[in-house]
Amino acid sequence: MTNVDELLARMSPAEKAGQLTQYFYFRLPAGAEAEPALGLDVAEQPQAVEAALSRGEAGSLLFVTDPGEINRLQRLALEGNPHGIPLLFGFDVIHGLRTIFPVPIAMAASWDPEIIERGQAIAAREARAVGIHWAFAPMVDIARDPRWGRIVEGAGEDPYLGAVVAAAQVRGFQRHIIAGPKHFGGYGAALGGRDYDEANLSDHELWNVYFPPFRAAIEAGAGNVMTAYMDLNGIPATASHWLFTEVLRDAWGFDGFVVSDANAVRNLVTHGFARDLTEAGERAVIAGVDMEMAIADPAYARLPESQAPAEVIDSRVRKILEAKVRLGLFDDPYVNEDRARTVLADPAHRAAAREAAQRTAVLLRNEGDLLPLDAGDLRSIAVLGPLADSKRDTLGPWVFDFDLDETVTVLDGIRGFVKDRADVDYAPGIPVGQRTFPSMFDMFGGNAPADPPGFDAEAEFARAVATAAAADVAVVVAGEWQNMIGEAASRSSLELPGRQLELLQAVVATGTPTVLLVMNGRPLDLRWAAEHVPAILDIWYPGTQGGAAVADLLFGDVSPSGKLPFTWPRTVGQIPMISSHTTSHEPENQARRYWDEASTPLFPFGHGLSYGRFSYGDLTVDRPVVGREGTVAVSVEVTNDADRAAAEVVQLYLRQRHGTASRPVRELKGFRRVVVPARSTVVVEFTIGPEHRRYWNAAVRDWVLDATSFDVEVGGSAASFDVRPAVAEG
Ligand code: NOJ
Repeated sequence: MTNVDELLARMSPAEKAGQLTQYFYFRLPAGAEAEPALGLDVAEQPQAVEAALSRGEAGSLLFVTDPGEINRLQRLALEGNPHGIPLLFGFDVIHGLRTIFPVPIAMAASWDPEIIERGQAIAAREARAVGIHWAFAPMVDIARDPRWGRIVEGAGEDPYLGAVVAAAQVRGFQRHIIAGPKHFGGYGAALGGRDYDEANLSDHELWNVYFPPFRAAIEAGAGNVMTAYMDLNGIPATASHWLFTEVLRDAWGFDGFVVSDANAVRNLVTHGFARDLTEAGERAVIAGVDMEMAIADPAYARLPESQAPAEVIDSRVRKILEAKVRLGLFDDPYVNEDRARTVLADPAHRAAAREAAQRTAVLLRNEGDLLPLDAGDLRSIAVLGPLADSKRDTLGPWVFDFDLDETVTVLDGIRGFVKDRADVDYAPGIPVGQRTFPSMFDMFGGNAPADPPGFDAEAEFARAVATAAAADVAVVVAGEWQNMIGEAASRSSLELPGRQLELLQAVVATGTPTVLLVMNGRPLDLRWAAEHVPAILDIWYPGTQGGAAVADLLFGDVSPSGKLPFTWPRTVGQIPMISSHTTSHEPENQARRYWDEASTPLFPFGHGLSYGRFSYGDLTVDRPVVGREGTVAVSVEVTNDADRAAAEVVQLYLRQRHGTASRPVRELKGFRRVVVPARSTVVVEFTIGPEHRRYWNAAVRDWVLDATSFDVEVGGSAASFDVRPAVAEG
């Protein structure tokens, strides 16, 4: 058994600083150029890192995924380190390593902790098999401004859903590797939705909204936490002693290690906060940041010359060494490359990815029950839009080790489903390779599909419309190219990019019944579609098996059961718009606050239709009056009148009527995904305890539990429910 104290006693200051340093190790595809903003010399980088390894002065690497390469670098590290301290390999395992699951916002839309946990356990199994020990995930930042591109990586707007999803992901990851919830804290509140911009959050929002998913992730056993780039209330988050010591460790008892976001420590100079790199390292390490993630030229390498107290540095190194011991790396630092290949190819992983994609899709509209389509009844299906057959876009952002060959697009999925029962005619209609701006991830290659040579935009547009006109049904896939969303990919508009809306309008004008499949990670401006397109299914970026799952849903093998994890605004000008807002003067006029647009959403939080036909009834609370700390049992009957079984996500909201602060008009406090058999009723039960009613009160700067009355609301979205009052007495 490795003795951490003995190791610490033998290590030099430079070796200790090395353990606290994580280096990017990039090998870009031939000919690729690094994003200039990274300040990275692609040719130099590997040599510089290997030199640090040979001096025993690196604790961790990121961005290596090849098991042979991981073994080679591990060997270099062990040979170079006089104490035999192995490297920790970290990576952005966000929604799969080789088997790509739907993007995280989609997984949240399943409202299904079981499939979320299973998905991340599979991602972690694949990661561990290739030698990755630690995922920079889950991203548990609340996102209430969909202009912010990183909304795709999280669970949306709601702290309760966010906490349940965070915990499920952590449980999944931690079965094989370390999970690193990020970015602590408040990163999602970037002003204007502009990535990395400052966040100004009241006490009340931090504790009631932005912190709960982090707390849940830590309680679920996350071994790591990542810092955030921006200033939080005027202090750079990465140097916030309050966040990383007072809240995370002292208040919540976090026992793992903290890593900075990439270059966030050197950014303390950029912020105009630290005087130079040495002071940047010193202030971050004192604040409680154990490890620096450095793209180049680490600040922590200067810790030996800084004023950081030796005992602080030792306590940070201890955390890193303990993590390595816990992972068993001192005993077993290498991976078996044959086993890695077998794990990556496991068909059970693909089956789970398909099931996940089935559960994540949200049926936004289904006028006249156009869906499901009857495959036996159709002679021809037009599949239209550039995203319908784009493998790379089907996978979504934040994947690097994918296999395009095995990726099933919507077109592949539909063809595979109908076989020779109907003609499936595909026309992209508008350029496949159309990009409005380059993404920093383009340097990894494979990100921007190109049009076939000689693509004639006008002729292709006309051909797509003619294909629709000649078909029994048109399936239009429209949305955002995957590199328009994610890190550093904010938008100032929610419009469908390119000529997609025009294409959709022209297709609908042919009179052919039209289904819109939305490929996205944020709400888009669907005002026209929501009035004119009878069926709209949000398929997100559905992953490796996405197209197969979409076909299962389109043709009714599976009923859609996803629910929106955010409020879907009508237009960008309404942002921010959330479900759990408070209310004030003239609430009856709430829907008329704008001169030029309704102030209601296009689709409410929690919305999602089904091929089942659900109704709610007999909502009961077991006692109308309880003590302030008391518990209320709630039950509701959910009936499915359809001829088929279907899953429904039953949602419970609370509204506190009076107290020592004004509280939101509704707050999600429970949900359950239940399968209701055809023409049957099931009873769904919830328990409301004091933990559901407690909230952070900014007036007293503490958690409070008011003596009050509250409404219990249960339904299939945040806008449709039955209500029962109850009282919590003081
Ligand atoms: C920067 C991102 O903000 C963070 O989420 C990610 O984990 C690191 N880069 C490493 O890629």
